[in-house]
Order: sequence, then C-alpha cells, then structure tokens
Amino acid sequence: MHFQWYPGHMTKAKRMMQENIKLIDLVIELVDARIPISSRNPDIDELGKNKARLILLNKSDLAEDRQNIAWAEYFSKKGYSVVKVNSKRGGGIKSIQGVIQEACKEKIERDRKRGILNRPVRAMVVGIPNVGKSTFINALAGKACAKTGNKPGVTKGKQWIRLNKNVELLDTPGILWPKFEDQQVGLKLAFIGSIKDEILNTEELAGELIKFLTTHYAGVLEEKYEIKEQEDPYACLMEIAKNRHCLLKGNELDTEKAAMMITDDFRNGRLGKITLEFPEDYE
Ligand code: G4P
Repeated sequence: MHFQWYPGHMTKAKRMMQENIKLIDLVIELVDARIPISSRNPDIDELGKNKARLILLNKSDLAEDRQNIAWAEYFSKKGYSVVKVNSKRGGGIKSIQGVIQEACKEKIERDRKRGILNRPVRAMVVGIPNVGKSTFINALAGKACAKTGNKPGVTKGKQWIRLNKNVELLDTPGILWPKFEDQQVGLKLAFIGSIKDEILNTEELAGELIKFLTTHYAGVLEEKYEIKEQEDPYACLMEIAKNRHCLLKGNELDTEKAAMMITDDFRNGRLGKITLEFPEDYE
C-alpha cells in the first residue's frame, strides 16, 4: 500500500487522534523495527503526553536481532515500555497483555485508591501507514474478540474490542504521517516501500540501498548475487543485472529490472535481517 499525505489529511488525522486520545489510557505505537525513528510520527509525543506509552518494534523478523535489542534498550531508557513483535507470525504477541498491565500500573493504582476496581485499561493502536496496525490488532484480538458499542440497542459510540476483563482496544487504529519532508527519512521510507517509489527513480533508489548495504552490511550483496562489491553503486547494479540475466533486447543490461529485484529482495527479507538506522546515531 502506498500513501500520499496532503495538509488536509494531516489536519484531519491529527484531529481524530486528539479526539480519540481523550478516551484512552495507553497509546500502543507501532514502529518498523528496521527504521524505528524514521517510521515515527513527529507529533506523537505531544499527542500522547500524559498517557502510558508502549512502543512495538514490529516487523522485527526483518530487522537485525542485535539492533532490535539495542533499539528496545534505547526506547526503554526514554521511559517507554517496549516489545519486539512479529505481528504477521504472532511473535511477541503473548507477552503484550502483561506489558500493558505493567505500563498502566500507575493508572490502575490511582483507580484503586479512588475505590474504582476492575475498570479495564483502554488502549489505542497508532502508527504510520503500512507499519502493521491491522495485522497487529488481528493478532492481538484474534477471533475471540467481542466488539462492544454501536450494536442495535447499545449506546452509540466508539467501537471497543474487549481483549479480556482487563483491556479494551479501540477498534480503529490511528493513522499518522511520518516526517517525510526530511530527505533521509523519505529515503528510508522508500526503501521499506512505505511511500511512493516516485520519490526517486527505481535505479537511484536501488543505488542508495546498495550504498547503504555495502557500507553497513558488507558481503550481503556479494553472497546473494555473487558479485564483487565495489564503491560505485551503479557498477554493482550492472554486475547484478549481468549475473541475474536482466537483459533488454540486443543483450543490453536491464539495470531497471535489476534495481527492482534488489529493492524487492530487501523488502521481503530475502537479503537477510537488515536494520537501516542505528540507535547510536540518535543518542
Ligand atoms: P497498516 O494497518 O498499519 O497499514 O498495516 P497492515 O497491517 O496492513 O500491514 C502492512 C503489511 O505489513 C502487510 O503486508 C502485512 O502482512 C505486513 N506485516 C505486518 N506486520 C508484519 C510483521 O511483523 N512482519 C512482516 N514481515 N510483515 C508484517 P502486505 O504485503 O500488505 O500483505 P501480505 O503480503 O502479508 O498479504
């Protein structure tokens, strides 16, 4: 899914978020484990202030394990609860219920002191498009979920998914925009396929990816495509096109096809587990 944001969209999304956030105790923010900073919304901390916060490093199956651990530490130090998840396969989902209770313990304690017992924690899932919000909600709620509200005869209102007696989830996630005006952020979002590929042409995008990989994951391209990595990304691209028989009529190398192949292999994890940004650069 590709997404294009306009100022009107952003104003609307922010207004909806401001309305919904009043109803909840906990913000469950999904980030892409490959780009945990670039996949965040610039305004989320302001929007979510005074709420309990849980960050999920989603698609952790596609990111490097060592970096997932480092990112979890990075966000923990900043006061967020953090869980590494793979929503597609259900990895990490079982631990979420316990983490939610822990993240909301101050609120639960406040309620208890006021004599309010057993009021469920209310949570909302937020994140940029394509980060995995729907997949996560399905994985967490499963089939057992019961929706409350908006049924005939029931008071009109928001739809809540009752996960158990302790937690209710707003059934529509909050969609927020990334900080795409930052070129480096835009590039990383394009690498993972979250924004329109037209930000750069296919070959330029693959060239930037090749540059990143040869710098930070030396040997990956060499092994996958049996090429010799070299400084000039375009030379690498031509080698890959040659080895993979990406040819145009007249046996000319089809570097565009090769570029699409590399980008696609990266996005689908076929180049291995790769993280595109590192916590030490954000300390
Ligand atoms: P959204 O609601 O935030 O927009 O995201 P959505 O759940 O639609 O997920 C976007 C894509 O990301 C989906 O792939 C989904 O399967 C994939 N995805 C979600 N969580 C994970 C994860 O933890 N790991 C991996 N590897 N992928 C994940 P798709 O290409 O749109 O569909 P499909 O190929 O899965 O059918």
